[in-house]
Amino acid sequence: MTKRVGFATRMGAIAAAVGSAVGLGNIWRFPYEAGVNGGGAFILVYIVCILIMGIPVILSEFVIGRSTHSNMKAALMRLSPGKKYYLFTYICIIGSFVVIGFYSVVCGWIIEYLYQAALGHLHGHTPEEYNSMFTALVSDPWRCVGWTVIFLVLNFLVMSRGIEKGIERVASIMMPLLFLILIIFCVNSLLLPGAADGLKFLFYPDFSQLTMRGVLDAFGQAFLSLSIGISCLVTYSSYFKDDTSLTRDATTVAVLDTLVAILSGVMIFPAVFSFNVEPTAGPRLIFEVLPGIFQQMPGGYVWALLFFLLVFFASLTSTISLSEIPITFMIEEHKLTRPHAIVWTAIFTFALAVLAALSFNVLDDVKVFGKSIFDAMDYAASNVFMLLGGLFTAVYVGWILDRKVVHEQMTNNGRLKGAMEPYLIFCLRYVAPVSIFFIFLYLTGII
Ligand code: PHE
Repeated sequence: MTKRVGFATRMGAIAAAVGSAVGLGNIWRFPYEAGVNGGGAFILVYIVCILIMGIPVILSEFVIGRSTHSNMKAALMRLSPGKKYYLFTYICIIGSFVVIGFYSVVCGWIIEYLYQAALGHLHGHTPEEYNSMFTALVSDPWRCVGWTVIFLVLNFLVMSRGIEKGIERVASIMMPLLFLILIIFCVNSLLLPGAADGLKFLFYPDFSQLTMRGVLDAFGQAFLSLSIGISCLVTYSSYFKDDTSLTRDATTVAVLDTLVAILSGVMIFPAVFSFNVEPTAGPRLIFEVLPGIFQQMPGGYVWALLFFLLVFFASLTSTISLSEIPITFMIEEHKLTRPHAIVWTAIFTFALAVLAALSFNVLDDVKVFGKSIFDAMDYAASNVFMLLGGLFTAVYVGWILDRKVVHEQMTNNGRLKGAMEPYLIFCLRYVAPVSIFFIFLYLTGII
């Protein structure tokens, strides 16, 4: 087997998986998706998605990765010799480029806000001013593209330095810190006047607000947030040791990821209602609302700085895992050197990211299936690539893969009880195909 750049310890591998899962998906996208889709009912569906599809698909990716200790293509070739399932890897690679393409634009916005926070410019404005501040940023092609490119340069610099020590260490310090300050912001938000309306919006399930599109979005959001469906967790779990409990690791990733998403909601929505911002504001939601929370807090300058710094690191651990998918693939399957693989990955990523950044300004009248380039990439990433990818993984492990492999992995060759195995198999065999069927009916406009 080719020697891969990997994680030194078991804790390192888990920290990396959690680092990949926790990112802008939780802090930026989850609150706005919940806002657009009516709040409480969306969150309920989201949690059901995590239980019936999220955890089973994480486990499936772990089974594929750890049983073969290889990347997705090599793993599928080994597990199903002579079959063409490995071709699915190419969909994963394209999917990872699409995700990182739109994702890095938002990372660029985060750096701009970090910069503005450092200059003290986030302080002392009205909600309307925060709104125009964000509009000014995205409608300026130079700033929008500039920050995106700066973020990507940082991302690829880290990748070229090797990811083991730096990222492992950074993730294991930054993640708990992020968690802690999220809680502090939640408490602050809950003390705002009108906080109760925000909590009601977030937790009271009003099913009249939920559409079929909302259900699809909840699935897509769950997949994006858990980093499943594009073989990211196959790659990471291929470094897991043979005595790690896959069930425990999968549940740890899912629980921590969901907790960060819900806490982000608790941080944002009381403030949304208190500052009279529309919960349906979409991608701009956190950028309009968060500065308002910071300025209510004593020492708001420092809190703003700390917050954007931590979100920056959370997104970096996610984009690193995203860019590692094509890089590992090119190194192992196409025998490129690591620097070459990084250069190729960077070229494709820059091209897509610049298009996404320009779609808010100079390319704003270019539409792909009726959406802006950024929205089309965001939609395609989570609701098409990751969703269908996750469902493929589920069906592959549920129906096609030898049950013996699944049993060995779930029980570590008989050493663990593997109590979740029947649940896993049930979800993979029945829940996943039924969901595919409904999503297919929805996408083709039949329902
Ligand atoms: N899960 C990450 C987030 O929530 C995004 C991501 C998707 C990372 C796919 C890796 C792979 O921000």
